[in-house]
Amino acid sequence: MALLPIIETPDPLLRQISSPVDEVTDEIRALIADMFETMYAAPGIGLAAIQVGVPKRILVIDLQEPEEEGGEPVREPLVFINPEIVEESETVQLYSEGCLSIPDQYADVERPDQVLARWLDENGQSHEEELDGLLAICLQHEMDHLEGILFIDHLSRLKREMVLKKLAKQRKERTKLAA
Ligand code: NI
Repeated sequence: MALLPIIETPDPLLRQISSPVDEVTDEIRALIADMFETMYAAPGIGLAAIQVGVPKRILVIDLQEPEEEGGEPVREPLVFINPEIVEESETVQLYSEGCLSIPDQYADVERPDQVLARWLDENGQSHEEELDGLLAICLQHEMDHLEGILFIDHLSRLKREMVLKKLAKQRKERTKLAA
């Protein structure tokens, strides 16, 4: 396994549309293992292959929610290959989203709170399930990456510019610290 570098906005690769996976091979499984390692180390709860520079329709998600409030996080790794949303609810939920490609910035995004999703797992097995809560949000956020969409694209122009300004300021401070 290996830690992969995560690309950050405004890298144009993040705007690329990812291609479907034709066959789930050992090479794909090796990439998925590296993606999990990279996501846990970041740390994050979801990662799309394009965020490590691979334009394939592969996502890894692990909400790492504790069994009880305040408890130890429990790992429950999920792999989504060629995911599709079959149906989505009309009801929406607001969630303060972040993204490993827009480090340390958060903003409220509104998305359908329930989706019927279809995908392949790391064994090429097909799944169709109704998802809700944070998992539904996270899946939709990661699926956006496959279309070259970032969560800031869902914000008003003013809010998006605020987030990007804060990101630029933070990067400048980081460079100063390193100097
Ligand atoms: Ni993201």
